[in-house]
Amino acid sequence: MKKKRVFSGVQPTGNLHLGNYLGAIKNFVNLQSDNDCIYCVVDLHAITIKYKPEELRLNTLEIIASFLAAGLDYKKSILFNQSSVSAHAEFAWILNSVSRIGWMNRMTQFKEKAGEDKENASVGLFVYPTLMAADILLYDATHVPVGEDQKQHLELTRDIAQKFNNDFNTEGFLTIPEPLIQREFSRIMSLRDGKKKMSKSESSDQSRINLKDDKDIIAQKIKKAKTDSLPIPSNKSEFHSRTEAENLINIYQSVSGSSLENVLKDFGGKNFSLLKEKLTEILIEKICPIGDEINKLLKDQKYLKSVLKEGNLKANEMANSKLDKIYNEIGILNVD
Ligand code: TYM
Repeated sequence: MKKKRVFSGVQPTGNLHLGNYLGAIKNFVNLQSDNDCIYCVVDLHAITIKYKPEELRLNTLEIIASFLAAGLDYKKSILFNQSSVSAHAEFAWILNSVSRIGWMNRMTQFKEKAGEDKENASVGLFVYPTLMAADILLYDATHVPVGEDQKQHLELTRDIAQKFNNDFNTEGFLTIPEPLIQREFSRIMSLRDGKKKMSKSESSDQSRINLKDDKDIIAQKIKKAKTDSLPIPSNKSEFHSRTEAENLINIYQSVSGSSLENVLKDFGGKNFSLLKEKLTEILIEKICPIGDEINKLLKDQKYLKSVLKEGNLKANEMANSKLDKIYNEIGILNVD
């Protein structure tokens, strides 16, 4: 079977949480043994909203540390940061001319992040999806593992690639990528409100489990997680609008690796206190070692930088070779 070319990115905007891990990074790790995988810390995306320069540098290293701690191997997968490969920004500029304003106007992530005051949002935030398309299309990625929230951006990336191929009459030149969105766990919800996704930008830290939370914090956050007063359902159809119950069961299922059927058999009809106790135990067992490893790796910045350096070299080689072809296709004069 032909290997997949896998590409995905994570923003260095602070602590990674359980949603990032279960929805995306765990899948990155599963894909790395049988495919060509490229995973990027998308630092140029992170500057589209207000940020602190001194934190961005550290956050970039922290994502690399988190990748490694979660099980990514930099000898098997290419791990790099976006800004070190200038082809991303150059290609994004070209794609800004291919993409239509109407397409960008439909992006829900822009509407969410820009909030009420859209006139005051950065232009970078508005064209965020063309940089994301550039990330993916530069490497001829065939598959892109992401959480549910990125589905619309992936669909747009496909439209942009299609339009580029049509505009320049280059059928098949840009590879049309497939999203890899897990059927389950693609949307881990907030612990405080089962209708909102777990997110780095949510102001309450109680709404999420961060990969670096210690065991006391995990225990306290799960204890306080919102539930309802009914017993746990015994089958899926009974969840109805009980989003908080469904979310805790989903998290338990994903972290423990058991089937939904078995989880509902074990917990159906029982009180949430038992599920919370077992969920705390399994999170401490599976997540705390990742957090400990992140903290350990962060003490050796020289090593983390050397990992990035190796990835940057490999990514530059691939991206520059594609960019040369792109410039040629669009009619840019090359006098070398
Ligand atoms: P970012 O940094 O917001 O999130 C990284 C990954 O985590 C997933 N995710 C979730 N999955 C399930 N439940 C949640 N609550 C949850 N929260 C986050 C995201 O879907 C994502 O897969 N635009 C991207 C970064 C990016 C990118 C790319 C991704 C830039 N270029 C190219 C793929 C390919 C983002 O904001 O991810």
